[in-house]
Order: sequence, then C-alpha cells, then structure tokens
Amino acid sequence: MKRVLLGKSGIEASELCLGTMQFGPSCDEAEAGRIISAAVEHGANFIDTAAAYGGGAGESMLGRILQGRRDQVVIATKLPTFTETEDIGQELDGSLERLQTDYVDLYLMHFPKEGMEPRRIMSAFNDAVVAGKARAVGCCNCPAWLVEHFNAIAAVEGWSPMTCHQVPYNPIERGIEVEILPQAKTANVAITVYRSLLMGVLSGKYTKDGPIPEGSRGALDVKKQRPQGLIARHAEALDKFKAFADGLGVTPAQLAIAWVRHCPVVTSPLVGFSSLRQLDSTLGAFNIDLTDEQHTEIADIFDADVREESCGKIPLFRRNLNLVAAAD
Ligand SMILES: NC(=O)c1ccc[n+]([C@@H]2O[C@H](COP(=O)([O-])OP(=O)(O)OC[C@H]3O[C@@H](n4cnc5c(N)ncnc54)[C@H](OP(=O)(O)O)[C@@H]3O)[C@@H](O)[C@H]2O)c1
Repeated sequence: MKRVLLGKSGIEASELCLGTMQFGPSCDEAEAGRIISAAVEHGANFIDTAAAYGGGAGESMLGRILQGRRDQVVIATKLPTFTETEDIGQELDGSLERLQTDYVDLYLMHFPKEGMEPRRIMSAFNDAVVAGKARAVGCCNCPAWLVEHFNAIAAVEGWSPMTCHQVPYNPIERGIEVEILPQAKTANVAITVYRSLLMGVLSGKYTKDGPIPEGSRGALDVKKQRPQGLIARHAEALDKFKAFADGLGVTPAQLAIAWVRHCPVVTSPLVGFSSLRQLDSTLGAFNIDLTDEQHTEIADIFDADVREESCGKIPLFRRNLNLVAAAD
C-alpha cells in the first residue's frame, strides 16, 4: 500500500484511509478487529473515526481494538458538529479518553455551522496542537472559501493550518470539482474522499429489482442512510458500470475507488468496510491505474456534467451569508 503525505502536516499515511462509521451498526467488535488487523497487515495504517459515530461508541471500540498498537496507526477523529467553540478542548479530551491515547494525528471539524467563529476555532485547534494532543488539524464538508479563510487567519497568527479536507466524491457526486479540488491543489491541502462507493451502491450488490442484501446499509433501519433512491435513479448506469468493471476484470467496488484515486488532487480514498471479506476483495483497487480515457468513459456512464449540487450539504454552506459570525 502506497504512503502519501497529508498536505503540509508532514504526516505520512497509507493511501487507503479506513472508514469506521459502520463499526457497531454493521459489524461487531470482533469483525471490526479483524478488519483493522488485516488493513494494518496490508500496510493500510490510516484510520478515520468521529465523536459522532455511535455517540462516542465508535471511538471507544477503536480504542479497545488498538490497545498496544497505537504507534502502528495514524488516527483521524472529529469534533461533534454542534460543539460550542469554548468546548473544543473538552471534546478533544473526551475523544482521547475513548480512543485510549494521548494524541490523535488529525483533529477535524466535522461540519461547519451557522454563526461559527473561525478565529476562535483556529485558536482552539492550535492550542490542541501546541499541547501535543493533535499532530495536525483539518476540516470536513467546507466550501473552498471557508478553508481559505481558516488558513488566512492561521497564517497571520502563526497557528496550525487546516492541512486536510474530508469531502464526498464519486462518479455520480462530483461537486468538489467545482472549487474544492482546485483550492486544495493550490494550497496543498490533503483531500480525503468519503462516499467513494456511494455507501455501497457502486459495489454492484444492489440492482433495481433485485433483493436488498441482508445486513447491508440498504437493509438498515436508518432511513436517511438508505441507498434505495440512488439505486432506482441510476439503475441503468449502474448496470453499465458493472459491465465496464467486468470488461476490465475488476470488481465494481475496485473500479469506483480506482476512479476517485485517478484524480491527482485526491490524497486518500476513505472507504468503509462492514466485513473482512469486503476489505480483502477491494484492496486490489489500489493497484489499478485507469487511463484518462477510461476515467472519462466511466464519468460518461453516469453523466459527465459536474453539478455543484451533487455534493452533500456543501453547496448550502457555500451560499450561506451567515455561516461565519459577522465580526470574524
Ligand atoms: N466527514 C464526514 O462528514 C463523513 C461522512 C460520511 C462518512 N465519513 C467517513 O467515510 C467512511 C466511508 O464513508 P461511507 O460509508 O459513507 O461511504 P463508502 O465508503 O462509499 O461506503 C461504505 C459501504 O460500502 C459497502 N462496501 C464496502 N466494500 C464493499 C464491497 N467490497 N462489496 C460490497 N459492499 C461494500 C459497505 O456497505 P454495507 O455496510 O452495506 O455492507 C460499506 O458500509 C466512513 O466510514 C466514515 O469514516 C465521513
């Protein structure tokens, strides 16, 4: 597994960033442990979690699994979305306790929120770095202008900048191409991309009229995470995508990851696995180098238009005149 540099942080991590959001809801602790062990064995040492996953249970599970091997991994965790700025230090301490570690490698802001105060946030994040509780800081789901604003403040004050930006990306949801990727390239901000399998929709396991596989995200009772709408909307294209993968002799999941990693500004695809079998059958993606023509053909299967709207909540943040408090 290739190693990559996370922007200006100086941190080296595996190209695969292992998502753990499904640890708990889709796989139990024993299987989660097997996934982590196999990932580390294959050289994938970059692990993503968040205080929000299971209300802290995700971090606690990871803390137990990683006991005795903290130094083998690079951990990213995230501040809960609605945290007041003055509580950032306390929230980080809570994450460290649950993860059973003295420091995280990357501490990320999970979502921006209206009325936020970037100067105070950057100051609190810098305090975390100075205290040795985070090696570097970053953010998720921000419009490009906000990342620039954070880092302009950090540059003037001599504080730790946002070195990594975590955003959704796949051949159907290409909104980050509008401004986020060019900004990241220009400012050397690492980009980790989630939803590279579109929650499993691009893995080929769902078909329009076929049964929803038992135990899959489609069968989970979490309505907003269910992929059924996407499956119905893109049924024909998903069939073509699967045929394209068959033609190359790879799996659809491998092809989806190969598609996002073709972009030179994507530092790390962030992929979630619910079983060891999924991890084992997908790692080959990191040896697939698509040609520019293949990359375009795949984009054309879905719809080559790059629509800003297809980017989660980021377009709403991008247009929100009150996202940042007036004085900041
Ligand atoms: N910063 C943020 O706001 C944010 C938001 C969302 C996620 N994340 C992070 O990104 C990670 C990944 O995001 P995601 O889960 O939304 O997207 P994803 O990686 O596109 O989808 C992961 C899902 O794909 C399925 N899958 C994986 N490999 C498979 C295979 N070989 N065959 C069939 N299905 C396969 C699994 O579904 P089943 O469970 O159905 O088997 C898994 O839960 C999360 O774990 C989390 O760490 C961050």
